[in-house]
Amino acid sequence: MTVSVANGRVLIVGATGFIGRFVADASLDAGRPTYVLVRPSSGNQYSKDKVAKALRDRGAILLNGLANDKELMVKLLKEHQIEIVISALGGATILDQLSLVEAIHSAGTVKRFLPSEFGHDVDRADPVEPGLTMYKEKRQVRRLIEKLEIPYTYICCNSIASWPYHNNRHPSEVIPPLDHFEIYGDGSVKAYFVAGTDIGKFTMKTVDDIRTLNKSVHFRPACNFYNMNELAALWERKIRRTLPRVTITEEDLLSAAAENIIPQSIVASFTHDIFIKGCQINFPIEGPNETEACSLYPNEPFRTLDDCFNDFLAKMKDENMKQSDENTKQSNEIPPPKPVVEAFAITATCA
Ligand SMILES: NC(=O)c1ccc[n+]([C@@H]2O[C@H](COP(=O)([O-])OP(=O)(O)OC[C@H]3O[C@@H](n4cnc5c(N)ncnc54)[C@H](OP(=O)(O)O)[C@@H]3O)[C@@H](O)[C@H]2O)c1
Repeated sequence: MTVSVANGRVLIVGATGFIGRFVADASLDAGRPTYVLVRPSSGNQYSKDKVAKALRDRGAILLNGLANDKELMVKLLKEHQIEIVISALGGATILDQLSLVEAIHSAGTVKRFLPSEFGHDVDRADPVEPGLTMYKEKRQVRRLIEKLEIPYTYICCNSIASWPYHNNRHPSEVIPPLDHFEIYGDGSVKAYFVAGTDIGKFTMKTVDDIRTLNKSVHFRPACNFYNMNELAALWERKIRRTLPRVTITEEDLLSAAAENIIPQSIVASFTHDIFIKGCQINFPIEGPNETEACSLYPNEPFRTLDDCFNDFLAKMKDENMKQSDENTKQSNEIPPPKPVVEAFAITATCA
């Protein structure tokens, strides 16, 4: 059920970022010729260089440039005969994709474009500000793709597998709570949680699948369908103790969003949309332009959230071990007591 792609060359834009890295790794895992656009400089140069080097060591071909440099992008796409472009640009540079879309249109080599989505269906969801502005920008990119008739797939993968901290852009990098749980509302609204590696893996499955052409692909793995109360209970079973619960009300989340501190307030507005309004579950997937990953790939399992929480447990134990090694090292570094004679001498002087 694949579309005909002559060489299957994939260009990933934003591969040094959080989601892009998962996609680039999955592209390499799938054995695809993988090109990665690396922008010349940014704030997190060290970690970015490390990621780019790791991808190159795995066989990726690094290209330098900016996604919003239309002329350069046309040149790169043509020169390397790129057929699939996946963008994972971050929230602050969503509109940089407008030039990229124009470049894809001009180059004429690309058979599928996946813009930077990787969340909810932005045409459906309606978060409060400042999240809404990001969705409006993502919608703007969608409309240009459709106007220029570029073949596309929109990945709506829902939440990343983690404790959904309302003030952290990348919560899967943080261990779930160890002191108390913050439960949104009554904790009963459900959401879908997907491991980062599965976001990459299933994204790559769609790129030349005829059934995902010009469609939104929703990720709804039944095994990872949890509400906050169930999520808390799952973590309590892992750490073998119960933690107090604190309610974060709808008003609390709206106030955090209204503070307009970027990016935390954007996360708060999405958290409100997911766990108060139920934006992931308040619609059936039945339109002509949408489909669902589990029904497309029934034999391909999703990693369970239970398993992902085991990773957090291992990470926690690892961190505890490092901390106790550090404490031991520090206690060994306490200088030995002064010799008795010297101590007497000091005492004598002071006296
Ligand atoms: N479902 C979820 O739970 C979830 C979680 C997080 C993000 N997301 C979504 O996933 C997408 C990616 O977000 P992210 O958090 O992964 O982003 P990120 O970590 O900020 O990474 C952004 C990437 O884009 C690159 N970049 C930015 N502007 C560029 C330009 N003009 N030209 C070339 N490269 C450029 C950055 O390069 P540098 O390395 O040089 O900075 C970096 O590699 C967004 O659409 C976001 O909304 C979803």
